Amino acid sequence: MIDKRERVVRTFNALHPASMALAVLALVLSWAVLPPEAEAQGVEDGQALFQRRCSGCHALDADHEGPRLRGVVGRAAGSVKTFQYSDALKNAKHTWDEANLDKWLTDTESVVPDNDMSFRVPKQEERVAIISYLKSLSTP
Ligand code: HEC
Repeated sequence: MIDKRERVVRTFNALHPASMALAVLALVLSWAVLPPEAEAQGVEDGQALFQRRCSGCHALDADHEGPRLRGVVGRAAGSVKTFQYSDALKNAKHTWDEANLDKWLTDTESVVPDNDMSFRVPKQEERVAIISYLKSLSTP
């Protein structure tokens, strides 16, 4: 005969490994939700990097030395009507996406030869952060 208390103890012992498994599952799930946070971090860094590296020539909503950049991800190259582009960029036929922005910031000449932007971002992690910031401004 198993008395009541023993049954409770047995049930607890049976549950214990299960709750361990649940705890592990919770931990794995918390890792699974990390990527969006990491991306948010990238956007934050990207904003600071944009200020440091790009804002000398670019603003988001006004043309300076370079054209306004809000909404550039998904925008046709050389298409800001109010900006005086080089002939090279004016005649470019591509749309800016993450891949060609990465190439552009690595070496603008490799995307549009003879363009007027003489600036590079050699560090990949900085390019990724800046592009994810620009992208966050492009999605409505
Ligand atoms: C020294 C000034 C300067 C700096 C710094 C600079 N740019 Fe530019 N950028 C320009 C100029 C000038 C153009 C226009 C080039 C042309 O007409 O050929 C341009 C064009 C661009 C374009 C093409 C936009 C379009 O409408 O087709 C993108 C994208 C761009 N810049 C991104 C950046 C980013 C991101 C940074 C910072 C990492 C940056 N630029 C830093 C001067 C600069």
